Amino acid sequence: MNGNELYLKAKEVMPGGVNSSTRVNKALGMPFYVSKGKGSKLWDMEGREYLDMSCAHGAGLLGNGHPAIDEALHKAIEIGYVNSFETEYHERLARIITESIPCADKIRFCSAGSEATMHLIRACRGFTGKNKIIRVEGHFHGYHELIFIGGQPPASEFPRNRERPYIESAGIPEEFANLIIPVPCNDIAALQEAVDKHGSDTALLILEPVNFNTAGIRAQQEYLEFARKITKENGIVLFFDEIQSAFKKSFGAAQSHLGVTPDVCTIGKSIGGGLPLSAFCGKAEIMDTYQPLGPVQHSGTFNAHLIPILAGLAFVQEAAKPEFYPKLRALEKQFHEGVDAIIEKHDLNMIVPHFGARYNILLGRKTPALRYEETFCHNKDVMLKILKACFDKGIYFHDYGGGPSHNGYSIQHTSEDIAKVLGVLESVLVAHRNEM
Ligand SMILES: Cc1ncc(COP(=O)(O)O)c(C=O)c1O
Repeated sequence: MNGNELYLKAKEVMPGGVNSSTRVNKALGMPFYVSKGKGSKLWDMEGREYLDMSCAHGAGLLGNGHPAIDEALHKAIEIGYVNSFETEYHERLARIITESIPCADKIRFCSAGSEATMHLIRACRGFTGKNKIIRVEGHFHGYHELIFIGGQPPASEFPRNRERPYIESAGIPEEFANLIIPVPCNDIAALQEAVDKHGSDTALLILEPVNFNTAGIRAQQEYLEFARKITKENGIVLFFDEIQSAFKKSFGAAQSHLGVTPDVCTIGKSIGGGLPLSAFCGKAEIMDTYQPLGPVQHSGTFNAHLIPILAGLAFVQEAAKPEFYPKLRALEKQFHEGVDAIIEKHDLNMIVPHFGARYNILLGRKTPALRYEETFCHNKDVMLKILKACFDKGIYFHDYGGGPSHNGYSIQHTSEDIAKVLGVLESVLVAHRNEM
């Protein structure tokens, strides 16, 4: 069966033919059907080869089909992949990760990033006895009712989003928006005002310490330090969502690079080596609000399933090897020096912000965006054309509806892979130069 035939059949039995709405790739007009992945490469249903420059939304830092993960899967079979039990492997992984993340006295594991933010928000509320959430525009924290509000509204909702937070999906009751206070990134006065007005009702301030979900809007050092100070003074939990940023640049979380330690954080994506594993962690006094120690419930049949826990142990063992991050840093240097040279040579109106092995492509400006509104210059239609042209030349970047979201590479990518990507990117970007 080829991809088109499969899509027709899949649509009969799954809404839109997919299990994750954004898997319908707008650049291709259908999902990208993959028949196999190995190392830095993917193959479609017709056996065509692509270089994977997405790496599973950031979960694929080890690349496709890594031998260490294969071994973990075999070990799970030996153990009989017992489920709904604690094992020695859970304790081992918890210890390694808590030792590597500054805010993490204690940790619990789950599957998806959305699940991690959902559970941790509950603990923040249980700990503070307050309900409101201050969040930063442009940052993303999952698709659930508690937080899929006011983060990435369309330009037409501006600046109304700050008065009436935009509900990002039908089906989320209006009442949830009453608990969300969106603030612009890097605006100290706006954060001060939000805390003055809502601080006594606010449980947490949540942000991506390194943003990947909208053009890499970077919270500036001064802003992060102010966020730390004002939350501490007002009994608000400072929550870093590091689902994406953890382990991308070094062993541990981005907070180690930023010198600002939150009270709690979520981590995810790469830590499962391609299997579904996320985690939430933080100061003992907050984590100990979970039952059986405290009043906050968090339980589930599949919580911390043994298979991803074993894969997580394999991931941390790989990532702890002395050659792991130097290799990723060498790829990062090669890719970004190459991209920046292409931008300069052809005077392209774009920028590619990055942190570790992940980057964003933002069209329409040459300097980093510091607030969400500054990304409205990005032309999604042109982006879709660029992604399609790269795809036709054998390079797969994931499409987020043409938005300036994230892509990345893995430890199994080679310098030759990056050189090939740069060659394709140059020809495609130059062809669309006048549309940016
Ligand atoms: C910062 C951040 N938080 C939460 C999530 C949600 O994670 P998941 O897709 O695993 O539910 C993502 C996913 O991209 C993310 O980047």
